[in-house]
Formats: sequence, C-alpha cells, structure tokens
Amino acid sequence: MRRLLSVIGVFLLTVLPLMSSTLAGGRDCRPLNGRWNYIVDPMDTGIYKYHMTLQKPHKRFFADRHFYQDKTKLVEYDFDRAPELSVPGDWNTQSERLYLYEGTIWYRTVVDFQKVAGRRWFLHFGAVNYQCMVGLNNVILGTHKGGFTPFEFEVTDVLQEGPNSLVVWVNNTRGVSEVPTQNFDWWNYGGITRDVTLISVPEVFIKDWRMRFDGREASFDVSLDGGTGSVTVEIPELGIKKKACAGRDGVAHFKLKVSPEPWSPDNPRLYDIILSSGVDRIEDRIGFRTVRVEGEDILLNGKPVFLKGVALHDETIGTNPGRCKNKEDVKALLEAAKDLGCNFLRLAHYPHSEQMVRLAEEMGFLLWEEIPCYWNIDWSSEETYANAENQLLEMIGRDYNRAAVIIWSVANETPHTRERLSFLGRLIARTREEDPSRLVSAAMEKKLTNPQHAVVEDELISLTDIISINQYIGWYNGTPADCDSLVWSIPSGKPLVISEFGGGALYGNHGSDKELFTEEYLALLYRKNLEMLGKLPSLRGLCPWCLKDFRSPKRPLTGIQDDFNRKGLIDEQGRRKQAFFVVRDYYSK
Ligand code: GCU
Repeated sequence: MRRLLSVIGVFLLTVLPLMSSTLAGGRDCRPLNGRWNYIVDPMDTGIYKYHMTLQKPHKRFFADRHFYQDKTKLVEYDFDRAPELSVPGDWNTQSERLYLYEGTIWYRTVVDFQKVAGRRWFLHFGAVNYQCMVGLNNVILGTHKGGFTPFEFEVTDVLQEGPNSLVVWVNNTRGVSEVPTQNFDWWNYGGITRDVTLISVPEVFIKDWRMRFDGREASFDVSLDGGTGSVTVEIPELGIKKKACAGRDGVAHFKLKVSPEPWSPDNPRLYDIILSSGVDRIEDRIGFRTVRVEGEDILLNGKPVFLKGVALHDETIGTNPGRCKNKEDVKALLEAAKDLGCNFLRLAHYPHSEQMVRLAEEMGFLLWEEIPCYWNIDWSSEETYANAENQLLEMIGRDYNRAAVIIWSVANETPHTRERLSFLGRLIARTREEDPSRLVSAAMEKKLTNPQHAVVEDELISLTDIISINQYIGWYNGTPADCDSLVWSIPSGKPLVISEFGGGALYGNHGSDKELFTEEYLALLYRKNLEMLGKLPSLRGLCPWCLKDFRSPKRPLTGIQDDFNRKGLIDEQGRRKQAFFVVRDYYSK
C-alpha cells in the first residue's frame, strides 16, 4: 500500500495544512453529502497496482470513463452503472457484503459547478478511514492518512463549469506501522465517514484563527491566506469591535481585555464572534474558560472541579450501529451521558466528529480528546511518528477554539519500553508547543504486584499533567469483592483520573451477581469499584468504560457478545443496564 501511494505521490499536490476556520459559520459551505456510486476493488485494479502503467488511463478509475459511451472501447468499469453508498457513513453497516470488508473501495460523485470571479474553492473532508487519494476531473489532488481528522484541498484551478467528476480511492486496511496499529478493540469502519463540503472563500481569506483566554485577556492570532490586510474581531455581547493589520507573515494579533461570563458545565455560556477581513466573514460561537492543575486539583475557572465522566466510542445508538453521521446521532449519545449525570466525556480512542465536540460544548461537557496511539504502535518508525503527529496537529487545529476541550491525550495503554517513552515524549512536547493552554495526558495501566496490591508507576507520569489509569478490578483482575481489600500505590502530587474501569453484561441477562455477563454482576462490580476508588485521596475524575455497548471483532462470544463489547452502561439500542443507575446514583451525590 505504501508503494502504491508513493508511486501515485508523484502526481500529488500537498495536503493543505488544516484550516480550522474553514467550516465555521458564515462561510459558503456546500455539502456534497448524499448517495455516491462505489466500486469494491480488493486488488486495486483501479490503479493497476503492479505494472503501475499509468499510461493506461482506462485502467485508472480516476478517469471516470463510461462503457456506454463507445461500446467499441474496452472500459471494464463504469461508476454510472455501479451501486451507491451514503456519504457520510461507514460502508460496513450499509451492505451485508461489506460488513467485514477491509480493502479498497472507490467512491464517485458528480458535482455541478458554476465559477464565480474572485472566489477560491476548497474541498473539505471531515474524515475518511483509513487512507485515501482524492481525484477531481482526473487530476489527483492529494492523499490523506488517518481515519478521524479533517483535511482539505484547494480546487479553484481544477473545478470546471458544469459537471465535475470527484473520485475518491479509500482503503481501510490495517497495518503494523499505522496509527492505530493492526490490533484494536473497535470495529474497523471504512469509508468516507464524515461530511464532504465544497467551501467558497474570497481571494484573501481567514484560513485559521486561534484564541487563548487567561481569565482577563483574550488573545487572538488570525492568519490570512492569499495576501495580507486588516482583520476585525467582533464580540457584540462584550462590546468588542477591534481591527488589526496582518503583518508580513499574514497574521494579525489581538489582545483584548474582556470580562465574560465563564464557560462551565453548569453554565455553558457561549458568545457570538465575528471575524472579518475584506469581504471574508466568519461567524462562530466561543466560550471563555481557564483550566489548569494545582497540586492534586484540576481548576476550572480557578475552582476545583471533579470530572464525573464516561468514555465512549464514535458509534450510533440503534439496532444496526455504525459511525455517527450527523448531529442527531451524537445528540442521542450526549443525552444518555447527560442522563447519567456526567460533566465530562472521554472521547475514545480517536478524535470524534466536529459535531460531537460542538454539541458537547453547547450542552456543558468537559472533553478529553485523544489520538489513536493505541496499544503496541510501531514506536521505532519515523513514518509512524509523523503520522501520529499529523493526526495530533489536525485534531488540535480543528478544536483549538473549543472551550469544552480541556485534555489532549496522546495514547492508550502502551507498553513501558524506551522506544514508547521517546515516541510519546516527542508527541507530548509537540502538543505543548502547539497548545500550551490545555492539559496533556495518556491513559496508562496499573500493575498488580500481588492480587491485593495495585501499583501505578510509569515514567510517562513525569510528562503528563494528570495521572490517568485504566483498571479492571473485578473483571480482568479478580472479583468485585477484591475491591474491598485492594491496596493502591499511586504517585501523589498530580490529579488522578480513572480513565477506564468496568466490565461486561448483556442487557436483560439476569442471574446471580457471581455470574459474569449478568446485569447483577456488573451492578455489583460498579458499586464495589466506586466505593474503592472514592477513597483514593488524589481522585479527581472517573470514566466508566463505557457509555454504550460497541462493535468489536475481538468479542465473538455467541449469544452474549455477537461482535459487541458488552461493557456499556447502556446496550447498543440505548437500553439502560442496572449498572447505569448505580453510576447515576453515585454521580448525583
Ligand atoms: C482496554 C482498552 C479499551 C477496551 C477495553 C476492554 O482498556 O483501552 O479500548 O475496549 O480495555 O477490554 O473492553
């Protein structure tokens, strides 16, 4: 696959750095969502992989040729005659024959277009899992790798009047040097899983803006593309309207004294903001808050906060769950978390959609966001590091201005090796360089030196702002009763967040609380764990694993799991297990 991309690479324009502002309100954003034709291509016939004789255009599906046009010409594919998939959406849950499919699928849609003088156009993808090549009118715009972060290409000089052929090569094959690697506990949903948008901007436009708030002053860096000029920042409710000129680097800087109502879970106060430059205008809504660690406390707006959380995957509630596709899908998950009494969400194990982050912010959830450096990544590969760092920067670039996000997490349950420490140490340093305003963490593990003694020690702790531990006492280790006598050894001096704990139960499966996978067992497990964890002096946050049962190919137990990880407090259809009420009761107190 790498060879394939490298050979094609000779045609590639570079993927533009992410423009977190592009999708902001006020822009002329035309969704290209809908039914796209697709061709399943397990041997990459559409690229003619082995001979790479790119001279044979009829073999390359980017050309989007048609059989009916001239039946004397051999064309062995035709998107017009091919079936359709919905975009956005994973392919696995749209067709029985694609449920377990891992490989290449080609997507094609036709975009009718009218040029407008003085405008530029960008093709924006919310996410494609796992890697893709994008072609427009048989011009390959570029590639992207990483299944959960947005990317875009300028298409101003490629779009034509009338119909335009947009062809996307997508491949979700796992790989030992990919991020995540080839082994992970969630479904490998492939496809164009988030929105595709055609965005129009003026010749000179605001390509990125970032705001930091220190409690008194809001500082803005607003970057222009296509030239320089002046920028105006308006926050009407705060009586702010300020203009500044961009320097030679195209960046305008603002330092504004403000005294806003702080954003918090109890009062998720957002303010309209308008940024303009020339004819470009962006409207967004932002919150003002501060977050920092002081000793073993997490301070939100200067006051200690306890993170009443839950972890969740980006997967819908329903009888045929798949990747969340729209606001309704994420709203259903957030309403369940609100019902649980949460003020905090761990968006595991990869960046969720922009809709999820924005709606969580409106509803008053603090957020932990994470890149999928999950389990045993290829720590010694430079290419793997570059991939992980790119996903990190694309995540930060998209959500930098979201007050709800307080923690960037760089990894989950990774081995204590020298290579891993070096890899994650670089990633943590890069995170702090890109965003000094938020906390940095990684989910680590405890180890049992004996069944009665849990020890937390990890060199990574010296690099993170909080100590985050996944532990499964009562499930993978011992029984719920072991919580009563277990001794914990945890480094002091930093806040402790239990980033995962819990066990499995099949909704409606009732029996003794000694029997695994009964609701009674799971309820007992949570009662015992909450009692034990509540005694830890530096505990400042809890994340049951997890909100909802989710698909995983690692959970085949027929009649109980059936390809679902059953550790949800609710099942895939949203039905609440007894354990849900144990946690809700605990949080209510
Ligand atoms: C691990 C991992 C999760 C996984 C869970 C489980 O802690 O972080 O992604 O789903 O355990 O075993 O269910």
